[in-house]
Amino acid sequence: MRQMKKMLALVLTAALSAAALSGCGQGAASKTIVRIGHNQSTNHPTHIALTAFADFIEERLGDKYDVEVYPSELLGSQTDMVQLTQTGAIDFCVASNSILETFSTNYTLFNMPYLFASSEAYHASMDDEAIVGPIFESTRKAGFEAVTWIDAGTRNFYTVSGPIESPADLKGLKIRVQQSPTNVEMMRLLGGSATPMGFGEVYTALQSKVIDGAENNELALTDNGHGDVCKYYSYDMHQMIPDILIGNCAFLDDMPAEDRAVFDEGFKLVNQVERDAWTSAVEKAKDKALNEQGVQFNYPDTKPFQDICTPMHEQMLESHPDLRPIYEKIQQHNAEHPSAAA
Ligand code: GCU
Repeated sequence: MRQMKKMLALVLTAALSAAALSGCGQGAASKTIVRIGHNQSTNHPTHIALTAFADFIEERLGDKYDVEVYPSELLGSQTDMVQLTQTGAIDFCVASNSILETFSTNYTLFNMPYLFASSEAYHASMDDEAIVGPIFESTRKAGFEAVTWIDAGTRNFYTVSGPIESPADLKGLKIRVQQSPTNVEMMRLLGGSATPMGFGEVYTALQSKVIDGAENNELALTDNGHGDVCKYYSYDMHQMIPDILIGNCAFLDDMPAEDRAVFDEGFKLVNQVERDAWTSAVEKAKDKALNEQGVQFNYPDTKPFQDICTPMHEQMLESHPDLRPIYEKIQQHNAEHPSAAA
């Protein structure tokens, strides 16, 4: 199945690259085909939101644009899709903020463990243009810019054998992390062995015991089947990492201003629809994981994890002093929305 998906992705991306090279984003009736790739299933809030975006553009600019949404890594892994967006072979993709840190170090900020004091502080920070603006624009030189963010909940550890009650339980365990230096460093500090790989490879790696666990939001248990293998999910709450909808700069810059205004409205819609769908999707996932997959949810004391990770903030700010004013703004949101436990 994975092999087939990979082959399909290769064929599709070769065709898309050929289309981009021949300067052809135009459909038969001279409509511009807008291609958006992501790595989630068609049940996922991300797909629901992008479908709403496609409908919105169809309704408002249907005579000029045809939006095609490709789910489930059909166009390749997130890293592949970011590269396709850079070259303009596709127009948009959803990438985790984690992997964007290798394209612009500014994105490192949102990957910091325990950066946000609460979901409310996270949402308020990501909605704050003064915080996201400079970061979202920082990849323009690389050929793409961020057009909106998408909620991806809170990341927690889940494992095959035994719950993670404290950092000591991670010792000797191989844990899949996203391909980002920050995540590898976080795992090193927490005492586990970081195994970076793409999202689509995690299920097989868990099943074949190449790894002992992973970390993600609750939807990975159900939507991606990780809860079929991992029966312990521990709320250590180490990161709230947004997903980011990125777009090819040439595509965005070349469209007429009135079309761009409609696309901008559409990007806001993506954010809103996804966030509206998120909470109930998490509730449903928890219910299914608990009752159908037999996953046990654990609520460890988060402080020992946090104490180990927070020195990463100061180290990051020392290497990127320009991020300090933005970091301070996040602290203001944290002060306004402290965690329930604080
Ligand atoms: C979440 C996130 C994805 C990301 C995945 C991962 O599901 O929404 O964008 O790819 O985590 O762990 O790689």
